Amino acid sequence: MLIDTYGRVATDLRVSLTDRCNLRCTYCMPEEGLQWLTKSDLLTDDEIVRLIDIAVRLLGVEEVRFTGGEPLLRPGLVSIVERVAALAPRPRMSLTTNGIGLRRTAPALKTAGLDRVNVSLDTLRPDVFKRLTRRDRHKDVLDGLLAAREAGLTPVKVNTVLMPGLNADEAPDLLAWAVHHGYELRFIEQMPLDAQHGWKRDSMVTAGDILDSLRTRFDLTPEGAGERGAAPAERWLVDGGPHRVGVIASVTRPFCAACDRTRLTADGQIRNCLFAKEETDLRGALRSGGSDEEIARIWRLAMWGKKAGAGLDDPSFVQPARPMSAIGG
Ligand code: GTP
Ligand code: 5AD
Ligand code: SF4
Repeated sequence: MLIDTYGRVATDLRVSLTDRCNLRCTYCMPEEGLQWLTKSDLLTDDEIVRLIDIAVRLLGVEEVRFTGGEPLLRPGLVSIVERVAALAPRPRMSLTTNGIGLRRTAPALKTAGLDRVNVSLDTLRPDVFKRLTRRDRHKDVLDGLLAAREAGLTPVKVNTVLMPGLNADEAPDLLAWAVHHGYELRFIEQMPLDAQHGWKRDSMVTAGDILDSLRTRFDLTPEGAGERGAAPAERWLVDGGPHRVGVIASVTRPFCAACDRTRLTADGQIRNCLFAKEETDLRGALRSGGSDEEIARIWRLAMWGKKAGAGLDDPSFVQPARPMSAIGG
């Protein structure tokens, strides 16, 4: 079991498969990209599968989410999913992606054993998409979403970050679109995790702003108290249901007390929190012949030291050294 000193148990493992991305979202990374990890820095497919096996067999992990960077850029993704689906116990498996290339891979991912996907999409306007991601790929994302639904990678969730002056006015349109297509839309408060360290508290669209904007067109009723569980999204029924909308308010309404996550970076470091200042190296132990039990012990220790909360809204908050694209979203 992965338990910390506050009694939280991590059953949800987020695995970053690469730090690279084919978009350049302005709130994430600069136009020129970042200094990417090298091939030898990256865990191999075998190493990733072995660590996930240790996590499910010895550490109580029940759900694995693949993230990036952009996880569809990892050549071995389908085979990794297939191998993880064959583990005992078999974890639930999901993928968080920008959707580019999903049109092509969705059926293979489903066959390999992936359960569902979350796709990031911040705007319905191709011109805004291009300004925001610095790439002209809006249609690819929309196609990827349709393909995911057709392949049965459901429920398909859509993650949206709103920014003032860019797409903040689109919240009701995005919700109408998501309801129409049967996607579960979640708005995410922008977090201080960008490579450029340009995040400002005052220029963040808050959960309160988002709900006000949605209520101009929809009737929202909160889902029953306590149903949020360890999920970062708080959810509302749209016009009485059955469609829902979520808000992930990591800054103004943090969910740290219920957090059930442990993270593995693409270069084999354990992070006990998205905002942790320290990482624990597993790659070294793997590559120097550590046994499964030794690796499990290092992982348990890494989680034991998890802090109570990230304190994003505290004036003393310091951004972690690595950006979100390198940590895994
Ligand atoms: P499901 O609801 O199970 O689909 O998962 P999820 O919402 O955790 O998955 P996803 O990868 O789509 O994450 C959505 C967003 O939640 C991320 O982009 C982050 O903004 C936020 N998030 C995920 N994990 C954490 C975390 O550990 N801490 C905080 N503060 N935010 C997180
Ligand atoms: N704050 C909030 N969400 C972010 N994402 C990337 N960077 C940030 C940030 N600084 C989102 C992406 C994607 C998900 C994995 O994380 O838009 O939906
Ligand atoms: Fe790529 Fe995601 Fe960062 Fe956008 S937010 S540049 S899609 S890693």
